[in-house]
Amino acid sequence: MSAVPDDRWSHLLGAAERAEWRLDEVLSEDAELDFERPFLPAALSGERALGWASGRERLALNHVRAHGYLALFGIVEEMILPFVLQQTLAGELCALDPVRALLTFASEEAKHIALFRRFARVFERGFGRPVPAVGPASAFARAVLGHGDLGVALAILHIEWMTQEHWLACVRDDEAIEPAFKQLLRFHWLEEARHARLDALLVERLASGADPAERERGLDDYLAIVVLIDEALAAQVQLDRRSFERATGRRLDEARADELCRLQHAAQRQTFLASGMRHPRFVAALAGMGPGAIARVQSAVRSFDLSLPHPN
Ligand SMILES: [Fe+2]
Ligand SMILES: [Fe+2]
Repeated sequence: MSAVPDDRWSHLLGAAERAEWRLDEVLSEDAELDFERPFLPAALSGERALGWASGRERLALNHVRAHGYLALFGIVEEMILPFVLQQTLAGELCALDPVRALLTFASEEAKHIALFRRFARVFERGFGRPVPAVGPASAFARAVLGHGDLGVALAILHIEWMTQEHWLACVRDDEAIEPAFKQLLRFHWLEEARHARLDALLVERLASGADPAERERGLDDYLAIVVLIDEALAAQVQLDRRSFERATGRRLDEARADELCRLQHAAQRQTFLASGMRHPRFVAALAGMGPGAIARVQSAVRSFDLSLPHPN
């Protein structure tokens, strides 16, 4: 840890202390959500690609997707929390600001997990029925954390920059979005902006201590974790299809069910994979992973079916 100048860690620690927020400021347990409005912008939810669905049905799918969106964040953050704690212990305890900055990072992720669980309770009360989500989080965390630290740190960096992209490019200027949900995303984004920078320092620390073969393995591990995320997306799409049918009372025939699942998987891959793997700051971090790293990751993005028909 001593190879990294302390002032970057100290700066991020100070920013965390100034911007701290409490759960109840963002979403109270008895909050009421407005189900007449969309929760997610169309660019993230993908329901506009379904030409045959009515306006009410698209809105119901948007709500189901918003629930799944946060559920997926909850699952990945349950993996990030133990990883960051482990990295805190791996550092030099005499360098207090890095230790405190990483503990704050972990504490904020624990708060986000609690916020997302609270949101799920508030959401399901208003929506009128449970909405199943992939899991259990512990199994996903075990699968991801079975990979090397550098690969895991890269996957977390992808997730942190992806979160930035969602807020800045899709959510911030969308006035139609349900206000309580939008506020939740804003407060989450505020802390994730710092996490991205902290995780970039972790990647730098791990990569600088690795030889070329270890960096190559780190990239292999990162791409294997991307596949794990993609498998979780595919499973969530199947759950969402059934939640959509229950919420709308519409039983889809095989062709429409297949179309919904294919388009939703493409939309989820855009949201959770491409927006991280193509983020300029993530690509810049890949440059430090050795020649060919950027090309390998971009080739992996192209291997995914991301195609969506023009929204109407
Ligand atoms: Fe978070
Ligand atoms: Fe985070």
